[in-house]
Amino acid sequence: MTPIKVAVYGALGKVGREVVNAVCRDPETKLVGAVDINLTQDSLLLPDGSGKVPLTSDLNALLASQKPDVLVDFSLAKAAVNAARTAIKHKVHLVSGTTGLSQAELDEIDRLAKENGVGVVSASNFALGAVVMMHLAKIAAKYFDYAEIIELHHHLKADAPSGTALTTARSMAKARGRPFLVPSDKDTTLKSRGEQVEGVALHSVRLPGLLAHQEVLFGIAGQTLSIRHDTISRECYMPGVLLAVKQVHNYKGLVLGLAPLLGLE
Ligand SMILES: NC(=O)c1ccc[n+]([C@@H]2O[C@H](COP(=O)([O-])OP(=O)(O)OC[C@H]3O[C@@H](n4cnc5c(N)ncnc54)[C@H](O)[C@@H]3O)[C@@H](O)[C@H]2O)c1
Repeated sequence: MTPIKVAVYGALGKVGREVVNAVCRDPETKLVGAVDINLTQDSLLLPDGSGKVPLTSDLNALLASQKPDVLVDFSLAKAAVNAARTAIKHKVHLVSGTTGLSQAELDEIDRLAKENGVGVVSASNFALGAVVMMHLAKIAAKYFDYAEIIELHHHLKADAPSGTALTTARSMAKARGRPFLVPSDKDTTLKSRGEQVEGVALHSVRLPGLLAHQEVLFGIAGQTLSIRHDTISRECYMPGVLLAVKQVHNYKGLVLGLAPLLGLE
């Protein structure tokens, strides 16, 4: 089978470097180019020692010369939207993990991708375990009246609570068909009770040494259920990224999140 040709946008970033490594290691994918803005060289040595690929800040030129099948983007929101427009113009499928795009920007990407017959997978969490955790939490939500979420991340994380915690709480309430119950004798405006979303109290922990962790706790008379996901390195995103790289050609337009690719919807 001919390997899928992949270019990486944001290739010198923390996640971009992992993507470069993962694409080189997988026999079904082949790295053909890399893009970043902070360049001191015009080529990138492949981590498996098999040679080098072009490294440039000019995405348009790279897509024209290297003709990848898929562009993987882990950059910045304001750069990612233009990268998406450029990839779609070149009819290159897109797998994007960049967070912070607005709904209007996602709608535009969906429209352009459909018009050009291009697939786009955009997911705010590529860790497969996190996707499964959210799915299990939706199942459990129907059987418990009370729920809280503790999310724990590294101290440099910009937002709190995490996007994953917010999405989990909202999708749990949707699956249940109504908000969770809030213990009635407690003051929910107390800071120590966390942020209330659909009756779920969200607690955010920020510490150096952590990467990304989340525990969903359910309670009902005489019992609790805990569902926990932990990551220990940014390699955690790679099985999800490679899955999306291999499946994105099956879609036309935008697919949000990995759940549809995993048959979890
Ligand atoms: N979806 C997920 O599972 C997931 C996981 C981790 C991080 N993220 C998101 O991925 C993005 C990158 O995260 P990171 O930790 O690797 O950040 P990072 O800052 O380490 O890397 C970003 C890279 O993008 C490059 N870049 C910025 N503007 C660019 C431009 N105009 N053209 C080309 N390259 C440009 C930067 O030079 C940098 O090398 C962020 O939005 C982050 O929130 C998503």
